[in-house]
Order: sequence, then C-alpha cells, then structure tokens
Amino acid sequence: MILLKTAIELQNWITKQKLKGAKIGFIPTMGALHNGHISLITNSKSQNLLTVCSIFVNPTQFNDSSDFEKYPQTIESDILALEKVGTDLVFLPDLAQIYPSGTGQQPIYNLGNLENLLEGKYRPGHFQGVCQVVDKLLDLVQPDKLFLGQKDFQQCMVISKLLALKQSQTELVICPTLREPSGLAMSSRNMRLSEIGRQKAAMIFQVLNQIQTKLNTQQPIDQLIEAGKKVLLEAGFERIDYLELVEAQSLEPIAHWEPQKQAVLLIAVYLEGIRLIDNLPLINDNIFLQFS
Ligand code: PAF
Repeated sequence: MILLKTAIELQNWITKQKLKGAKIGFIPTMGALHNGHISLITNSKSQNLLTVCSIFVNPTQFNDSSDFEKYPQTIESDILALEKVGTDLVFLPDLAQIYPSGTGQQPIYNLGNLENLLEGKYRPGHFQGVCQVVDKLLDLVQPDKLFLGQKDFQQCMVISKLLALKQSQTELVICPTLREPSGLAMSSRNMRLSEIGRQKAAMIFQVLNQIQTKLNTQQPIDQLIEAGKKVLLEAGFERIDYLELVEAQSLEPIAHWEPQKQAVLLIAVYLEGIRLIDNLPLINDNIFLQFS
C-alpha cells in the first residue's frame, strides 16, 4: 500500500495510473475506521478499481470545536486495516495540503434547502464544510467512482448535489449501512460510548423499525414519532435533535404516509454526550442518482 502525504505526490501518482488506463475508486474518510468503511473499500476493489482512501479530519465541517477536538484518531490501526483489506493508496494530508491559503476564504455551494433541514438545521455550516473538503479531494483524486455509506443519508444527498454542481463525471456509489449484531449502525463515534451506552444505543434502530412497522396501521405519523421519542428519552437518551419521516429526495417532512411514497426515517440523538445519527429508508430504487 502506498502512503502519500502531499497533494502533488498524489496528483503525480493519479496521472501515471490514468495514463496506464486505470479506473479509480475513492473513499474519503476522517479515520477511526470501522467495518463500515472497510466495506466501502471492499466494494471498490470488487469492481476492479484502483482504490484510494483519504484520512483527514476536516475542521471546516465541525460547527462544535469540542466535537472536532474529541473526534477519535486511531491512525496506526487505520493504516493496518487499510493495508489488510488491500487498499492501493492512502492519502494522509495535513491542513496545509487541503487548505493552502487557510480555512478562511472558502467557496459557498448552492445546496438549496438540503443544508437547512435536519442535520443542516442542527449543525449550521456543516454541509458547506463537507463540500469544501470533498470538492478539493475530488479535484486531486479524479475518481471514476466515489463510495459513500448510506448511514450519512443527508450527506449522500449533499455530495450527490455537489457532483451535479461540479458537472462531475464521477459516479456516486451508495453502500448499505453496516450494523453491529445489536442493530446499532457502525460509526466512528461509537468508540466513545461506554459498554452500557453501546447496548442502549441499539434502541435507535429498534425505534426506527417500530415506527416503520406501525406506519401501515393508519396511526398518525406525529403520534408514532412522539411515541418513539418518548421511548428513547425514558431510556436515558439526553436529547433528540430530530426524529422525522421525510420525503427521500427533498427531505421535507411527510404528514400522511402512503406506501408508494419514497420516504426515509431520519434520527439524531445524544447519548452519553455523543451525537449519533441513523436512518431507515422506506424506498425501492437508488434515489441518489436523480440529482445528476
Ligand atoms: O463522512 C465523513 O467521514 C466526512 O464527512 C467526509 C465525507 C470524509 C468529509 O470529510
């Protein structure tokens, strides 16, 4: 596995590989890798793509500086895991490689209402930060395919929009959320939970499933949502930023459930001071391609 730290070395390597006719698969990460990330690498490799992974904890997407400071960093085990799974290249830039003129003056992306809803409402500026770093990484790596996890549902929508804004030829591949046997969605943030917290966090997915099951019983959506929130708060979750059933493309709330609607249940909660997100799509098709 090749390990590079500078943008120029990466660009030179990419140019050489493209001249040889290689197709590139790219997995951007912030490290603290888990099996969800590894499944993205495996997916890229299974498509015979030269597989590039970046590890960069991007400060511009953290609206809460203490969240940034506490973001788990496990670089040595990350490198071992990437090597074991057969990653071709890992890019480990520092801040100056990504933001040579500092983080101050950054482009603004027209993400429409996507950046005001749900995550966007509770993490102002977050998706602009995600776009800033992904835009730069895409320019450096020029991947044929970009692999993202569906666990960050709204981020997938935002990056799909970014690709459309850039008129990029890169194909977005959304991979399923990987879960612990308990149902807890794999996340780097889970590392910060206690053992008891990890067990309790499995309730997030249980609540999403309970709401899905009851949707067909004609009970009003707001009652199902309120009941779900009550279960979590009574179990000791400290705060619920949102638990909503939304239309899968626009992410606008759905007031009346119809099974043919493309919808998704989205949730963000706090447990042991750690913010956890999850989702349950109630859809048939790959909706992400519709932006391009
Ligand atoms: O999902 C993440 O880990 C980050 O938001 C990403 C896409 C690597 C951008 O920093």
